[in-house]
Amino acid sequence: METRSAKPSSNGLEGVVAAETRLSDVDGERGKLTIAGHDVERLALAATFEDACALLADGHLPDAAGRARWKAQLGQARVEAFAQLEKLGDALDQPDGMDALRSAVAHLRPGDRGTLSEAARVIGATSYFAAAWARKQAGLPALAPDPDRSAASDYLRLVRGAEPSPAEVQGLDAYLVTVVDHGMNASTFTARVVASTGSDRVSAIVAALGALKGPLHGGAPGPVLDMLDAVGSPARAEAWLEAELKAGRRIMGMGHRIYRVRDPRAAVLERAIERLEKSGTSTGRLALARAVEQAAEGALRARHPDRPLAANVEFYTAVLLDTLGLPRTLFSPTFAVGRVAGWSAHVDEQRAVGKLIRPQSKYVGPLPS
Ligand code: COA
Repeated sequence: METRSAKPSSNGLEGVVAAETRLSDVDGERGKLTIAGHDVERLALAATFEDACALLADGHLPDAAGRARWKAQLGQARVEAFAQLEKLGDALDQPDGMDALRSAVAHLRPGDRGTLSEAARVIGATSYFAAAWARKQAGLPALAPDPDRSAASDYLRLVRGAEPSPAEVQGLDAYLVTVVDHGMNASTFTARVVASTGSDRVSAIVAALGALKGPLHGGAPGPVLDMLDAVGSPARAEAWLEAELKAGRRIMGMGHRIYRVRDPRAAVLERAIERLEKSGTSTGRLALARAVEQAAEGALRARHPDRPLAANVEFYTAVLLDTLGLPRTLFSPTFAVGRVAGWSAHVDEQRAVGKLIRPQSKYVGPLPS
């Protein structure tokens, strides 16, 4: 078809640098993720979610007082979200957790309120709404938050209705910190585009939730667990994967736009699962997951010898969150519970830039006659 536009185009914006950021760096060739100056491996296995929120917001890890401030703000935000439950209508009745979360967060009013910052309110509310949705789905009433607990501890209690062990809280903290930020991924880009128009934080987060929902981004961990269930045993992995690929389906939890080696977050989450297993919490799925990962790598290498396709973060997310007793329908919303802190920090960064994000398109339609 004839086209008048000679502009070069980049489908998927692959390789395009859309922003400068101090928040995180993804080195796809070496398989390194730096979060505000810290290696993800070291940060995730030592820090709490509150630490990560402070790190992204302030550029450095908090001291004890700073950590307590974030803990109190997120606790207060959960309490406010709980008080809002009745005003949400049927938002949390939706069968898909990401739809429910998007609708519930959309009810937040933009702006700082009293002592609670807008950032803390949206981060705390996201975790509370996700937990309340899970309870509703299980046919149980939503529990009242406990603002004296850490975000990870209260999330596990609110979802499961039982006291989490310190090892489980540590396991969820490791997960939330691991996924807190990851360069210019699709949902973060979405949040920055909305922020760049001068719109409010809540709108940016709602839009980002919509982007995260997709199976090519944050929607993969539930299907990874479905895959492990379907495979059933290491001996069946190769045949099962071959059949999937032959049917033209993608292997969930494998491949990445940026990484050309194994996603470093997969290793962090694997370590977190090992740590949980040592504490006596195990589903026995880790060995199966490792066997399926190995078989999937081999099958994908045979099909795409020039394009390395290795495990991404979603692969071991599935095993870790399952070990923590979270239902698989809650895996993507739990991803959002961590990533919302990254989105929020990107909103602030984009506001400081003050420049509208507005790329161009290349017209390939018919010319006027
Ligand atoms: N299973 C099977 N084939 C895969 C694959 C997977 N998981 N990931 C990529 N491929 C194949 C594609 O089919 C494509 O093959 P083709 O060139 O013959 O058409 C090739 O590898 C390149 O894939 P492409 O879609 O161009 O790469 P991308 O950078 O756009 O995609 C993902 C990255 C993450 C979207 C992709 O790897 C994927 O769909 N993974 C599964 C979903 C998932 O785990 N998402 C979570 C991401 S953190």
